[in-house]
Amino acid sequence: MNLHIVILAAGAGTRMKSAQPKVLHCLAGRPLLGHVLHTAQSLTPAQIHVVYGHGGDMVRSEFAGYDLNWVLQDQQLGTGHAVQQAMPAIPDEAHVLVLYGDVPGLQPDTAKELLRAAADGLSILTVHMEDPSGYGRIIRSTDGTVQAIVEHKDADPLQLSVQEVNTGFMAAPAKQLRNWLGQLSCNNAQGEYYLTDCVALARADEQMVEAVQTADHMQVQGVNDRVQLADLERRFQRRCAETLMRQGVTLADPHRLDLRGSVKAGEDCFIDVNCVIEGEVQLGAGVRIGPHCVLRNCTLEEGVEVKAFSHIEGAQLGAHCVIGPYARLRPGTKLAEQVRVGNFVETKKAEVGKGSKINHLSYVGDAQLGSGVNVGAGTITCNYDGANKHQTHIGNDAFIGSNSALVAPVSIGTGATIAAGSTITKDAPENALTVARTKQRSIADWARPQKKLK
Ligand code: UD1
Ligand code: MG
Repeated sequence: MNLHIVILAAGAGTRMKSAQPKVLHCLAGRPLLGHVLHTAQSLTPAQIHVVYGHGGDMVRSEFAGYDLNWVLQDQQLGTGHAVQQAMPAIPDEAHVLVLYGDVPGLQPDTAKELLRAAADGLSILTVHMEDPSGYGRIIRSTDGTVQAIVEHKDADPLQLSVQEVNTGFMAAPAKQLRNWLGQLSCNNAQGEYYLTDCVALARADEQMVEAVQTADHMQVQGVNDRVQLADLERRFQRRCAETLMRQGVTLADPHRLDLRGSVKAGEDCFIDVNCVIEGEVQLGAGVRIGPHCVLRNCTLEEGVEVKAFSHIEGAQLGAHCVIGPYARLRPGTKLAEQVRVGNFVETKKAEVGKGSKINHLSYVGDAQLGSGVNVGAGTITCNYDGANKHQTHIGNDAFIGSNSALVAPVSIGTGATIAAGSTITKDAPENALTVARTKQRSIADWARPQKKLK
């Protein structure tokens, strides 16, 4: 199918009370329009057209990397007028699907159903609402065929009682749509060119209008203000949590996980409360994440345990590593199997070999550590000289005594021992003890200073 998708995103979004265009506000860490583009792309259209207006430059630059036809709608004269702006770039033989930049939840399957229903006519997506006020009502004849959509402000009392409403989503063959759009008038309560009037025009042409009804309100929920955004966020998060649980992840509380990206998880993972997961995260089987952790763009192989309040970004963790509590693994951290990184330890661009331990209060950056290394409490790799970064190498089975400063560039040999409190500025040979601190001495009969008496 030669599919052209038109995304309406020209509305002012006044109720957001924001300097930022509405469609750039985020749901689950991604701009509203980003969700819609993601759905649109999954339908492999020939072209996506975005009708923009307010804050257009900000919107365009946010999505500069996408292959989009940007269509400026200078004045917001209505949804029909908006779609019409995109029509010159759409060929007659195409099928058109209308999506909305501020309705981020529509799923590809629903869009496909709508497109199937529009194979030889117009299709609209409708939903039943307990309180339909504000929405366009679906007007059916006694035999059930859809005849028109009447906007709330134009409806008579009988029409107002209809609870089947228009979600806005629509699909139609381009040639007919172009024809109907050309016939729209703004002779209505809002003085706008309504896209919805295409329904009555199609019926006047004796075209079928198929209404696809969804029961999933989240898919058609638009965002007008920050209260609705927050409400949608919670429902979206609940759905993400359910997807994870169905993958075999136990969540201590599905209401207290925030997913702003995607997770691939093996069986029997456990995630405790108040974790935030961002970007692309992979969890091997049996991974356990403690409470209050942040995971961003990282891979944790099977059996990794992350204890409370840890922060892991851009890191790869081999099987059965134990991290935290209160650890911070920064980008470029690569841990082999069974590495332990304990409390108040920060790592960055650090490769750490199997079974090594950095258990307390350390900074390890721009460093390669072999296997079986023990890094004592308070060890710092001094990687930065104020201008450049330098590397620290630590051989297998080395033991770094507590409170040592390793001034890079520097190498610690295999099996070397560094005495506690050393400041290491030269390479330390393998299998030897290196001490780099002032010698301890004791002064006998030392008299402590006394307070002067007044
Ligand atoms: C529209 C529908 C209504 C439906 C409701 C669902 C029409 C006439 N009415 O009403 O039947 O129940 O959505 O939410 O279509 N937009 C533009 N340019 C414009 C006007 C609107 O890009 O000139 C965009 C807005 O940014 C918004 C969307 O179109 O994303 C819908 O516009 P809105 O004004 O919210 O339409 P409603 O009155 O809610
Ligand atoms: Mg609206």
